[in-house]
Amino acid sequence: MSRKIAFITGATSGFGRATARRFAQAGWALVLTGRRVDRLDSLQAELSSLTSVYTAALDVRDAAAVQKVVDELPEAFKAVQCLVNNAGLALAPQAAQKVDLQDWHTMIDTNITGLVNVTHKLLPTLIQTGAGASIINLGSIAGQWPYPGSHVYGASKAFVQQFSLNLRCDLLGTGVRVTDIAPGMAETEFTLVRTKGDQAASDALYRGTTPLSAEDIAEQIFYIATLPDHININRLEVMPTRQAWSAFAVDRDK
Ligand SMILES: NC(=O)c1ccc[n+]([C@@H]2O[C@H](COP(=O)([O-])OP(=O)(O)OC[C@H]3O[C@@H](n4cnc5c(N)ncnc54)[C@H](OP(=O)(O)O)[C@@H]3O)[C@@H](O)[C@H]2O)c1
Repeated sequence: MSRKIAFITGATSGFGRATARRFAQAGWALVLTGRRVDRLDSLQAELSSLTSVYTAALDVRDAAAVQKVVDELPEAFKAVQCLVNNAGLALAPQAAQKVDLQDWHTMIDTNITGLVNVTHKLLPTLIQTGAGASIINLGSIAGQWPYPGSHVYGASKAFVQQFSLNLRCDLLGTGVRVTDIAPGMAETEFTLVRTKGDQAASDALYRGTTPLSAEDIAEQIFYIATLPDHININRLEVMPTRQAWSAFAVDRDK
């Protein structure tokens, strides 16, 4: 029997890399993409004893590059069954009025345009695969709940949530499932990227609590992708037990 194929964006770190490992354990063939080629190479070396792995350097913001990577997939990797739209980032944790405009553009270009680029290109393939195919989009609790410093990041994940639900409407009858998985605090390279390399800030955020791990989310992505064909998880919001909401902030006279 031929292997099922998963196409994962942002497979070089965090959720994407853990998801690649989880699917490899179950024998899925993998198309792994990301910008850091050295990491793609080492993940391919690590997982090749378990399954067939094809890697491609890809910046999801570049629509032409997305077209090329998908068009040039080797025959054995073409019939993608599961797209994990994971590549994404937050930048600029400071208040909106202090942010560099370029950081907003980078988040929009990656989290929205990049996700749309890959989805649009792979939709015909996923529809051809039909029953059991899935698109699993990495949203965030930031797409649902406001917090200071979330500005464009949270708004980009609100796009992911609504795009996922809207896709469901259009894909009705094709068998293709769509899920917005919305994690809360998870320890990956996410905060290191958000703070542009401030390891101390990243360590401080996760210190003294129990964040989600990349493996926690990978397990849930695998669960969603391997449910019986007739089940669609629309949205899965997942937080660490040790994270919750806080009271409304109020501006008071000094
Ligand atoms: N960690 C959290 O607390 C958390 C919570 C909710 C949602 N999320 C979301 O989960 C997803 C994965 O984040 P993570 O926590 O695993 O962070 P991470 O460890 O920083 O991994 C992010 C991945 O995205 C890739 N990426 C970034 N920009 C890219 C681009 N332009 N083109 C292609 N790939 C790109 C990176 O690969 P390269 O740099 O090699 O390209 C990397 O593999 C993101 O969408 C994030 O917004 C994270």
